[in-house]
Amino acid sequence: MAAILKIFLIMHCFFVLHGRHADGMPNVYDVTEYGAKPSNQDNTDAFLAAWRDACGSASGNATLLIPNGTFVVGAVKFSGPCNAGAGGGATAVVIDGVLQPHLSNDHDDGDWITFSRVNNLLITGSGTLDGHGSDGSTNHCQAKPLTTTLKLNVVTNTIIRGLRSVNSRGFHVNIHRSSYVTAEGLHIEAPATSRNTDGIHVGASDHVTISDTTIGTGDDCVSLGPGTTDIVVAGVTCGPGHGISIGSLGKTIGEENVRGVVVKNCTLSGTTNGLRIKTWPGSTSSSIWAYNITFKNITMNDVYNPIIIDQHYCPHGQCSNITEPSLVQISDVTYERIEGTSSSKKAVKLLCSESRPCSRLHLNEINLSCGDQTPCDTEISNVQGMHDSVPQAPSPAPSPSHEQEANILLL
Ligand SMILES: *[C@@H]1O[C@H](CO)[C@@H](O)[C@H](O)[C@H]1NC(C)=O
Ligand SMILES: *[C@@H]1O[C@H](CO)[C@@H](O)[C@H](O)[C@H]1NC(C)=O
Ligand SMILES: *[C@@H]1O[C@H](CO)[C@@H](O)[C@H](O)[C@H]1NC(C)=O
Ligand SMILES: *[C@@H]1O[C@H](CO)[C@@H](O)[C@H](O)[C@H]1NC(C)=O
Ligand SMILES: *[C@@H]1O[C@H](CO)[C@@H](O)[C@H](O)[C@H]1NC(C)=O
Ligand SMILES: *[C@@H]1O[C@H](CO)[C@@H](O)[C@H](O)[C@H]1NC(C)=O
Ligand SMILES: *[C@@H]1O[C@H](CO)[C@@H](O)[C@H](O)[C@H]1NC(C)=O
Repeated sequence: MAAILKIFLIMHCFFVLHGRHADGMPNVYDVTEYGAKPSNQDNTDAFLAAWRDACGSASGNATLLIPNGTFVVGAVKFSGPCNAGAGGGATAVVIDGVLQPHLSNDHDDGDWITFSRVNNLLITGSGTLDGHGSDGSTNHCQAKPLTTTLKLNVVTNTIIRGLRSVNSRGFHVNIHRSSYVTAEGLHIEAPATSRNTDGIHVGASDHVTISDTTIGTGDDCVSLGPGTTDIVVAGVTCGPGHGISIGSLGKTIGEENVRGVVVKNCTLSGTTNGLRIKTWPGSTSSSIWAYNITFKNITMNDVYNPIIIDQHYCPHGQCSNITEPSLVQISDVTYERIEGTSSSKKAVKLLCSESRPCSRLHLNEINLSCGDQTPCDTEISNVQGMHDSVPQAPSPAPSPSHEQEANILLL
């Protein structure tokens, strides 16, 4: 009886895990079938073997499954292209377990889990990517190299949905040279003191949507680097951290423009910045544009710099000459319906480049208060042709000395 039951279980597992079910159930490649175990052993080889079969599956709809349990894995590169069969269907990666890094494994290229050159991918599950980053205090001494938790490199038509990423040792998610990527329903968390733990960074990519995601880290919640175009950030709840940033831009020669960015329906709480565009000073930077950018319907809760353009961005004195003007041209930026509270007196800072003044900045319905009853201040330099709407409520601001400040409603 026991023997029969055992055989039945083995058969059952076989059909569930590798079966070509008559009912059209997709092919599932479970890493535990390839020798992965929830223990302290390095499961990299098992993960890669399961990926090779899932990615190589010709029948379509293959699923790489990382089931419940805590799995240790070194730097692992899931590379395509995948052999999705004539029936098509995305290759799915379902992570229900917890992944932790194998720390003695060299992450020489600075990435932990990489998907590379894959089209039509779904990465989802109820699991957690736990980067085992330090608590911030140890991150500061940079003993360990900065390591991105999840990198997408040259990936297209891809969805990342529902996962948790905690305590990364660098960026949590980095979307690089990719197109048509959606990141939704993610939960990203690291200590406020941890350095360079950006939630989601996008660089050199187009048609990327980040939505319905909660991010609290020690750096930018979302950062959009050079060469990002047609980006939507919607329904992101951010804090703690450094806010939602475009940039930094203009540090490296050969950077491409940033354009077509919409940030909407987001809430920022207790962050150092809210909506920031940051560019480096210095003549070594490339001459690029950041334009057609819209921020709308954003709630600020005690944000230090709710609206900031900083074209003199130079953290830790890393630029050669901070008085050299930035060569990044910022234009056509709309801020609309930005409400809430600033924890500093200067709720709006638009500090543009002396050699490339910002042009066509539109501020409509900016309703920010600065704690005590006094009006907020603004600091504005090198801005051309700002067009403001007429505020819908009487503005308590004193009659302005600068025309461009006239209709910013700062309560
Ligand atoms: C995996 O874990 C989750 C949460 O702990 C639980 O809800 C789910 O039923 C588990 N699934 C399996 C197959 O054990
Ligand atoms: C793959 O999945 C899609 C969507 O669920 C389905 O329409 C298609 O028939 C599946 N293909 C195969 C070969 O199972
Ligand atoms: C600005 O960007 C939006 C959103 O990406 C896009 O739909 C629109 O066509 C762009 N406008 C111009 C003038 O390029
Ligand atoms: C503004 O954004 C909030 C989320 O922060 C959302 O609940 C609300 O529906 C949005 N309002 C409009 C008019 O889009
Ligand atoms: C977000 O913004 C869009 C307008 O662009 C609106 O249609 C939508 O209802 C808003 N609210 C939420 C919760 O997404
Ligand atoms: C820094 O740049 C400014 C403006 O270009 C220039 O006048 C100044 O000489 C530079 N200083 C140094 C130390 O290079
Ligand atoms: C500004 O925001 C406050 C609360 O944040 C709200 O009570 C007030 O009605 C708003 N004013 C306008 C003109 O939108």
